[in-house]
Amino acid sequence: MDVFEAIRARRSVRRYKPRPVEREKLERILEAGRLAPSAANRQPWHFVVVTDPSVRDELVMAHERDQFFRSTGDLLRAPVVIVACADRKRAWVRRDGEEYWKVDVAIAMQNMVLCATEEGLGTCWIGAFSPEATRKILGIPDDIRIVAITPLGYPDESPATSDRRTMQEIVHYQHW
Ligand SMILES: Cc1cc2nc3c(=O)[nH]c(=O)nc-3n(C[C@H](O)[C@H](O)[C@H](O)COP(=O)(O)O)c2cc1C
Repeated sequence: MDVFEAIRARRSVRRYKPRPVEREKLERILEAGRLAPSAANRQPWHFVVVTDPSVRDELVMAHERDQFFRSTGDLLRAPVVIVACADRKRAWVRRDGEEYWKVDVAIAMQNMVLCATEEGLGTCWIGAFSPEATRKILGIPDDIRIVAITPLGYPDESPATSDRRTMQEIVHYQHW
């Protein structure tokens, strides 16, 4: 599968088979994250990989108990959950104060998402998670920001394509 095929084939997968993810596949996916570009090559990312079902269940239950993130609990029922974090102190900051840690971690995350697609695995970007519960359960230090979470596993659904805006709406040649 070439990169464009993976980009086209990827879907947000919200139901997973219990089948475990092979260690080699997981390591290849994490390597895809590690190799991502980052501003000034600061690599401010950390990935917390949850493979222990009891830890995963703690995340699921904490989200199901939270009125704002109830539906996220169900999304986390996958054999692997990857929590992508940023160390802001390590990240590059532009002279005007613009911080790039979220961009850096997002690129690493999308590298992993596309690599997972190539391996026949599903993922789903999750922004609607509880940072407090996730931090507490996984022991993530206070100065580390949790950027996004994805479940990882063999899909138990085949989601349809979702709409995208047209080229005319989003691309501006020369000037806006
Ligand atoms: C930064 C980000 C955060 C997202 N957060 C959630 C989320 O919390 N829950 C969810 O079900 N989907 C979430 N999604 C998935 C989007 O809903 C999905 O990518 C979009 O609807 C397009 O569908 P597709 O991924 O299948 O192409 C998120 C996606 C991104 C990029």
